[in-house]
Amino acid sequence: MAGWPRRSDRSSGRIGAVPVLALALAVGLALPAALASARAGEAPEASPETIRLISHRQTELRRMSAAMRVIGRFLKAEGANVADVGAAAEVIRAVSVVFTPAMFPEGSGVGAGRSAARPELWQEWDIFKERAATLQAASTRLIAAAATGNAEAVKAPIQDIAQACGSCHELYRRRQP
Ligand code: HEC
Repeated sequence: MAGWPRRSDRSSGRIGAVPVLALALAVGLALPAALASARAGEAPEASPETIRLISHRQTELRRMSAAMRVIGRFLKAEGANVADVGAAAEVIRAVSVVFTPAMFPEGSGVGAGRSAARPELWQEWDIFKERAATLQAASTRLIAAAATGNAEAVKAPIQDIAQACGSCHELYRRRQP
């Protein structure tokens, strides 16, 4: 008697397995996606498309560094004024939309192309997203402060931005050896 339930379990398992396999074959791309998801960001075999995406997002991120250099020149009174700071803040806010799943897909972490995105980024996506939102909010504050023309008012949001860059990099950007 003990054999009956076991046999029926096995057979219902086989019946169940057929549609699952058929479904997996039908959706095709879902399988590699699921495997990539299991690796959580590590990508030994990144596609040319992913390599291009990484290169594109890095170009975008360098625009933020260029904007920060303008802000640095303002702080050191080296030829940049409050209006320049406002324009730099606009660039930072525009680029801060780069921190999305589309621009940081799983499989585009360290190991893929020249990516310096640490695998923790995908395990802690909510924290990553929150750091991006912090940067976006700070750049919005800086735009507003710069619009007043007040050179003192921009200093606090500049600090907030610098901290937002640093605190995300500390967690999710691999330091260059
Ligand atoms: C939400 C997290 C986050 C924030 C906020 C952030 N970064 Fe990054 N940054 C990253 C990650 C992750 C990488 C690695 C990306 C890669 O290698 O593809 C990176 C890489 C870079 C790079 C290297 C690009 C290259 O050429 O490889 C620069 C430059 C950069 N960030 C500048 C900034 C500046 C400036 C700020 C603030 C204004 C900033 N980032 C804010 C996460 C962040």
